[in-house]
Amino acid sequence: MLSPPNNQNTLGKIITIANQKGGVGKTTTAVNLAASLAVGEYRTLLIDIDAQANATSGLGVESKDLTKTIYEVLINAVPAKEAILASNVPHLDLLPSHINLVGAEVELIDLPEREYIMSKALASIREDYDVIIIDCPPSLSLLTLNALTASDSVLIPVQCEYYALEGLGQLLNTINIVKRHLNTTLDIEGVLLTMYDGRLRLSNQVVAEVKKYFGEKVFETLVTRNVRLSEAPSFGLPVVLYDAASSGTKNYLDLAAEIIRRNPALMTKDGLARVAESSTVKIANETSPS
Ligand SMILES: Nc1ncnc2c1ncn2[C@@H]1O[C@H](COP(=O)(O)OP(=O)(O)OP(=O)(O)O)[C@@H](O)[C@H]1O
Ligand SMILES: [Mg+2]
Repeated sequence: MLSPPNNQNTLGKIITIANQKGGVGKTTTAVNLAASLAVGEYRTLLIDIDAQANATSGLGVESKDLTKTIYEVLINAVPAKEAILASNVPHLDLLPSHINLVGAEVELIDLPEREYIMSKALASIREDYDVIIIDCPPSLSLLTLNALTASDSVLIPVQCEYYALEGLGQLLNTINIVKRHLNTTLDIEGVLLTMYDGRLRLSNQVVAEVKKYFGEKVFETLVTRNVRLSEAPSFGLPVVLYDAASSGTKNYLDLAAEIIRRNPALMTKDGLARVAESSTVKIANETSPS
């Protein structure tokens, strides 16, 4: 199930994808960033902690019949290894979610050290991966707090839409509280602009505004609107397998390359060349305007 370790004893970097606003591109980013890192042959794990289980179904896994999911890992102390599945993408594993995670919030409240449950659950599997990506629900709930507490960094997707910055103050406030009390080394990996449409003045205004606010933390990569990104999940595939020549594929490979360049531990492997090469091939072959 797991890819053979190529760099033993290093701990995988844990990146949480969070924004309490709904529909901003968290799951699309989690699935496609994870798949793009796997293209670079980084040993990658995607963890779905949203009861909607969109990241799970987005990788073609039907969660309803699963008996071991993130719910059992967090609430019943089932070892994470037992719930992890191989995905349809080489080098990418999945720790799936399940609708019963809806009840987890309430159940977590009574558990000891309730903010550290995910951190402890992941300790035993960190060295099996180079990168672990966590897809959060659209809330600043105890589940999201657990993810932030367990993570090295947080990636914030921001949709190029009206009120893009609304709610970000609350998210940054939560991140600061986590840094002060639960996880002093939590970093902001970056802010990712999603659903960008260069023809719209609004999109460009949002880019300017977000850059003014977050400066260098904004990724150079802009994820443009691309219908292939919204179609791929219904086939249970990341976009790189659904339509390798789409702009969505290129955008997420470029994001992966940017993240690799920003992280010395990831730079030490040959993955950047593999990701960059896939990205270049796609531009050369791009035939559709989508
Ligand atoms: N770049 C894009 N181009 C076109 N459609 C997109 C793009 N990014 C996301 N979408 C679509 O927008 C919708 C919301 O995206 P997504 O599910 O990734 O957001 P989310 O933040 O995870 O939502 P939620 O808060 O409900 O978990 C989905 O239908 C998705 O397919
Ligand atoms: Mg989602």
